[in-house]
Amino acid sequence: EELTIIRKFEHIEHCLKRNVQAHVSNGFEDVHFVHMSLPEIDKDEVDLSVEFLGRKFDYPIFIAGMTGGTRGSQLAGRINKTLAKAAQELNIPMGVGSQRAMIRKPETWESYYVRDVAPDVFLVGNLGAPQFSETIQERYGIEEALKAVETIQADALAIHMNPLQESVQPEGDTQYRGVLKALAELKAELPYPIIAKETGAGVSMEVAIRLESIGIDAIDVGGLGGTSWSAVEYYRAKDEMGRNLALRFWDWGIKTAISVAEVRYSTDLPIIATGGMRDGITMAKALAMGATFAGVALPLLRPAVKGDVEGVIKVLQRYIEEIRNAMFLVGAKNVEELRKVPLVVTGFTREWLEQRIDLPAYLRNR
Ligand code: FNR
Repeated sequence: EELTIIRKFEHIEHCLKRNVQAHVSNGFEDVHFVHMSLPEIDKDEVDLSVEFLGRKFDYPIFIAGMTGGTRGSQLAGRINKTLAKAAQELNIPMGVGSQRAMIRKPETWESYYVRDVAPDVFLVGNLGAPQFSETIQERYGIEEALKAVETIQADALAIHMNPLQESVQPEGDTQYRGVLKALAELKAELPYPIIAKETGAGVSMEVAIRLESIGIDAIDVGGLGGTSWSAVEYYRAKDEMGRNLALRFWDWGIKTAISVAEVRYSTDLPIIATGGMRDGITMAKALAMGATFAGVALPLLRPAVKGDVEGVIKVLQRYIEEIRNAMFLVGAKNVEELRKVPLVVTGFTREWLEQRIDLPAYLRNR
């Protein structure tokens, strides 16, 4: 049990001290807005609000789940509370990290609990897909899911799908048999929305269609091009074989931009575009491609570790101003209009999408 907790702590340390990002981009450099010299709107009237799962948010940015339950629950608690204060201030949603540690060690619950500082935040709990596999002895079910949500008074539950990370770590949970069926059962019983999220390798349209078919409420594509969990595991590897495997799969996955297009094209599910989102122009592109939010994890970790709420807000405000400016320059008053502006797709992303979807049809109707 100690292992899970120590592992989380190591992850944060590597994320702060090393380069843990993919060597490849998230694909948005292949997506271009067409500048509009006559926007016919005032920049001041640009409205960035979005609706998601029945709630209204002031800005289209989602703070992706990172932590909880670390050794010295002070560290994780500080990170979550700092992020939560920023989310409360800006009226944007946030997730916590995997609550597996909390299920095993209920006394760590406080490191996930943010309601005292963020009474109104749309909060998303987090459990891992492998824990629901039929192969696991003590597999999770409705009981654990309810515990995850209700202990921290969350509004929804995220189930992270992370076969890449698990496959390159020595103690990884590589049992994925029966997960979809288990999630279908969970969806039928759980009175909270479920968000299926990847953690850096992207969601394909095949997977998205399955998730939609069992009633999953939203998808966080968690695409390639930002934090790489193979990179994190590379630094944690204990031997040459482990290092080699993690290095080989460092850049494995579906780029975020591509994943957004595949999921939007193949389903009607709301999309969170996470994975290497590091500026507001890129975020505006994700919204234009059909995402409801751009999700961010790594860039917020450093100020959050220091308990620097203003630092977190400053990073987010920069993104917000950049999104607003991009929207002005394409003449989009709101996110709905942004989805209708012309987009030009070039390069690798275009080649990929032309083989996978009806690209013109998708671009006309996103
Ligand atoms: C994460 N991420 C993550 N995801 C999840 O579902 N459960 C978790 O416990 C964690 N833990 C975690 C810790 C840290 C330190 C980071 C940086 C990230 C993944 C995260 O939610 C996101 O999908 C990816 O990090 C991609 O976004 P960025 O980092 O490229 O913005």
